Amino acid sequence: MKMLLFGGSGRTGQVVRNAALAAGWEVEAPTHSDCDLLQTNLLSDRVLSSKADAVVNCAALSGLEACGDDPLTAHLLNAVAPSAMALACRHTGARFVHLSTDYVLEGMRPGLKNETTRCKPVNVYGESKREGELQVTEALPDALILRVSWVCGNPAKASFVESTLANALAARPLAAIADKYSMPTDAADIASAILKLLPLPVNGILHACSGGNPLSWHDCATLVLQFAAEAGALPQLPAIERQQLKSATFFRAERPRHTAMSNEKLRSLGIAMPTAESTLRSVTLRYLQSIGR
Ligand SMILES: NC(=O)c1ccc[n+]([C@@H]2O[C@H](COP(=O)([O-])OP(=O)(O)OC[C@H]3O[C@@H](n4cnc5c(N)ncnc54)[C@H](OP(=O)(O)O)[C@@H]3O)[C@@H](O)[C@H]2O)c1
Repeated sequence: MKMLLFGGSGRTGQVVRNAALAAGWEVEAPTHSDCDLLQTNLLSDRVLSSKADAVVNCAALSGLEACGDDPLTAHLLNAVAPSAMALACRHTGARFVHLSTDYVLEGMRPGLKNETTRCKPVNVYGESKREGELQVTEALPDALILRVSWVCGNPAKASFVESTLANALAARPLAAIADKYSMPTDAADIASAILKLLPLPVNGILHACSGGNPLSWHDCATLVLQFAAEAGALPQLPAIERQQLKSATFFRAERPRHTAMSNEKLRSLGIAMPTAESTLRSVTLRYLQSIGR
C-alpha cells in the first residue's frame, strides 16, 4: 500500500512518515522544494502520478503570526491546496486524510468542544483552516478531516513541552500562560490514529486529541517539570511565572482561549487516546531519552 504524504518534514508529518513506514506502507513524501504546494495547479498531477492508495496532508502554514502577516499564502496553503488534493483523490479513488485544528473554534466558553460545536475562528490561521475543512468536504465528501491540538512529542521539532524542558534543564527563567486551555496531543498518537482510521469507512470531521481535562500552558509546564523531576532529571522544581493571555504582547495574532476538544467520537470508533496528563508524561520521558538524560 502506498501513501502520498504532504508536509512530511513537519512536526506531525515526520512522525506520521515514520509510523507509516514502520507499519509497512510505501511512503512518498515530497519535500517543499520538490513540490511547492503554493503551485496548486501542479498538485493534481502529483496526486494522479503517485498512484497512492492514501493521501495524507500534514502540510500547512501553521504559524499564527505568519498567517496574519500573509493571509493570501495562508489561504492558498491551508484551504486551496488541500481542496486540490481532495479533488484529485476524488478522481483517483485514494483515501484522503487532512489535518485541521482546534483553532477553528471561537473558544469563548470553558468546556470540551465536540465536532458539532459552531466554528468561529478568531484569527487568519483559524479562518484559513476552517475554509480548508469546508473546501475539502465539498471537493470530496468521503475525506477524513482530523482536528488536532497542541501537537508535541517530536524531539526533532520542539513544541512548548520540549522547550519548557530545555529551558528548565538549562536553568533559564520559566513563564507560561495560565488562562488559555487546550489538549496537548502526542504526534505519535495522531499518527497511530491516522493509520487505524485509513481502512475504516469514516468521513467528515473528527477530533483526534488527548482526553481528560483541558490544560493551560502553565498546567502543562507544571506537569512536565514534575515528571522530569520524578525521572531524576531535575534536582528541584523550578518556579514558573504565571502569565495572562491579554498581557502576552509577543503574540500579534489573537488566540482563542478555550478550544479543548472532546475525543469521544474517535473513542466510539475504538480508537483510544491517552489523557493529556499521560501524554505529557510520555512526551517528557521521550524528550529526556532523546537528549540522554
Ligand atoms: N503544531 C500544532 O500544535 C498544531 C495544532 C493544531 C493543528 N495543527 C495542524 O496540524 C498539521 C501539522 O502541523 P505541524 O505543526 O506538524 O506543521 P509544521 O511543523 O509547521 O510543518 C508544516 C509542513 O508543511 C510544509 N510546507 C509549508 N509550506 C509549504 C509549501 N509551500 N509547499 C510544500 N510544503 C510546505 C513544511 O515544509 P517545510 O518545513 O520544508 O517548509 C512542513 O513539512 C497542520 O494542518 C496544522 O494546522 C498543528
